[in-house]
Amino acid sequence: MMGVTGVLALGIGLASCASGSGEEGGGEAAAEDITVGVAMPTETSERWIADGEAVESQLEEAGYTVDLQFANDDIPRQQQQLDQMITNGADILIVASIDGTALATQLENAADKGIPVIAYDRLINGTEDVDFYVTFDNYTVGVQQAQSLLRGLGYLDENNEDTGLEDEKVIELFAGSPDDNNTGFFYQGAMDTLQPFLDDGRLTVPSGQTDMDTISTLRWDPATAQKRMEDLLTSTYDGGSKPLDGVLSPYDGISRGVITALENAGYGSTIEDGLPIVSGQDAEIASVKMIADGVQYATIFKDTRKLASQAVEAAKAYAEGSEPEANDTETYDNGVKVVPSFLLESDIVVQDNITELLVDSDYWTEDEISSGVAE
Ligand code: BGC
Repeated sequence: MMGVTGVLALGIGLASCASGSGEEGGGEAAAEDITVGVAMPTETSERWIADGEAVESQLEEAGYTVDLQFANDDIPRQQQQLDQMITNGADILIVASIDGTALATQLENAADKGIPVIAYDRLINGTEDVDFYVTFDNYTVGVQQAQSLLRGLGYLDENNEDTGLEDEKVIELFAGSPDDNNTGFFYQGAMDTLQPFLDDGRLTVPSGQTDMDTISTLRWDPATAQKRMEDLLTSTYDGGSKPLDGVLSPYDGISRGVITALENAGYGSTIEDGLPIVSGQDAEIASVKMIADGVQYATIFKDTRKLASQAVEAAKAYAEGSEPEANDTETYDNGVKVVPSFLLESDIVVQDNITELLVDSDYWTEDEISSGVAE
């Protein structure tokens, strides 16, 4: 492996590296002479810390120098971090954006310097200067979120077949941050899956709030979600005295905000004693504990180690002067071009398969799950 020998053929466009190595273009550069700038959105959510650490350690293992930055969900800060990485001579950038439309200037600079840009998990929009995209199949993630809700409500079995249950139930809907390109994919996947049940009247959304903008949650903020859930309970559920069967939630942090509002309004503290079915995403440790304890119904597991390793593969390809291998060249149009992508698969986690999916794969330990805290 490249990382073992520590020597890489110098890739096309890695200009700063060529001058840094003191060789003529087309020579070879030691891996540690290649710097990869890694821009992550925030440390407030566990998944991005895990992503950052996984990308950093895998790049370092391959011998590269890494400049990892988190932007605290602050857009100007992320712009500044990218400016800085470019000024400091980054050869390749891996970027998980906060606002998918706010980085065009930075990326134009990168392109001028021949720095390849890999969008990480979230597509960067409105620019031609994004070269590759590694992510999960985001539409399918949305489908899985709705399927898990429908399973918890009893309409689908574990193979996602309609059980024929005819009961009428009521749900409310939450979506992610409107500036995150993934939000629309999650929403569309979920709505396409819920639609037949809304059409035949088995499901209704009593608040009437179903369009994406109305149900979105800026920056995926749990407190914003809790507040909206409280407002919904006040406006539509007599403060918690009317039945509510389920809530579509696109992210574990949002799920926890929603569950807090539901508990405070007296719906119970476990599903068994009346808490509505709530979906999620990311298999965050606090939520995995809640699933184990019968509080949150489900989450979607997206293995960040696999995503990190795809990003590292893509970076290696650029470092070697080739192109990363895409498995999707149609889906992710950023408004200027279709960005070649590598999509990974995700899984629905419910109480019964926590061990199989999360413990056996060494994602979380039994101890972490019982304490709800990452070690
Ligand atoms: C990611 C999700 C995550 C969300 C909030 C999205 O872009 O795809 O995995 O839950 O951001 O951080």
